[in-house]
Amino acid sequence: MRSAASEIAVYPGDGTGPEVVREGEKVLAALGENGRAAWHVTDYPGGGQYYLKTGREWEPEGEAAADRADAILLGAVGWPGASLPDGNIAGAALVLGMRRKLDLYANVRPCRLHPGVVHRISGEYRQIWSPEKVDMVIVRENTEDLYAPLHGRLARGGDTEVAVDTRLITRKGAERVIRRAFEIATRRSRGAPEDGRHRLTCVDKSNVMEGCRFFRETYDRVAADYPTIGRDYAYVDAFTQWLVRNPEHFDVVVSTNMMGDIITDLASVLQGGMGFAAGGNIGDHHAMFEPVHGSAPKYAGKNQVNPFATFFAVEMMLRYLGEKRSDGGLASQADRLERAIRSVLAAGTARTYDQGGTTTTSEAGDRVVAALRSERR
Ligand code: IPM
Ligand code: MN
Repeated sequence: MRSAASEIAVYPGDGTGPEVVREGEKVLAALGENGRAAWHVTDYPGGGQYYLKTGREWEPEGEAAADRADAILLGAVGWPGASLPDGNIAGAALVLGMRRKLDLYANVRPCRLHPGVVHRISGEYRQIWSPEKVDMVIVRENTEDLYAPLHGRLARGGDTEVAVDTRLITRKGAERVIRRAFEIATRRSRGAPEDGRHRLTCVDKSNVMEGCRFFRETYDRVAADYPTIGRDYAYVDAFTQWLVRNPEHFDVVVSTNMMGDIITDLASVLQGGMGFAAGGNIGDHHAMFEPVHGSAPKYAGKNQVNPFATFFAVEMMLRYLGEKRSDGGLASQADRLERAIRSVLAAGTARTYDQGGTTTTSEAGDRVVAALRSERR
């Protein structure tokens, strides 16, 4: 008997979010042609622009759907001038709120350079790293650290005014994300490009910070359960130069929330830019997938931005659903999508502006759809 379709809740959000999500949904629809859709997709409004219109970040119905969904796809949130009375960005409920509320403790961000993708450096489009040297997964803790809602301001307006952000690292929070990263390392088939070895690099600043010493101790404790995965350590400052100089050394990387936020944007340059960077926010019971690039207000409405990050987010989502539901059909749909994406990138027929080309967002979606349809089945 066939199990019920997976429920996918989609939040297009702000700016270019709806434009890339539309292409993601188009690709999902093409994958599901000929009765193969094992999913059901519903869109929900929300974000900063929605807040400016309605005074609400999202609707109770959308919030409840996130709790119920088998997987969530988010475009992006954030819009100039859209902020909450407490100063936070309007729409944060959909990203930071969802991460905390659904306990999506691991932010899994693959960083892989695909053949056909170029690097944009100082306005030039060139290949700087070769595709076989960039293939890692960065796992960012996603619920605590400096993102814990422990912020405050004292003596507002006075000469003695201070702002405080409290960095929270808990045993449970560190342990579960590190364990998740070891599990990912265990399941990777290839290992690091440099030597094919499986390793998990712990990125921290444990030479200075107590929270990082605790994180690294936790890493060592959990590592004892994974003897086949090489232990590897880097202070975050040194890591940034190694990342750029020797990306081939890295297989799986784990770090705390704020450092993970920064290093994944840096790493995106290796994979061709933010237009290719996708992330999965994954907990024990829920998961939300997103392109990492944000709402890019200045490109909104221009049908210009790169939708490939969203295609990769959709691929990750299908893989997640396949595992969660032990459904090989979903896993093979993810494989089909990966093949279609890679064939379009390798052919160089969908270069958006960030790749030095003129392909539009919707044309890039059309190319992937065409690749799916022309595939031998
Ligand atoms: C990210 C983003 C978010 C973060 C913002 C939009 C709050 O930069 O997903 O990396 O800081 O986590
Ligand atoms: Mn970020």
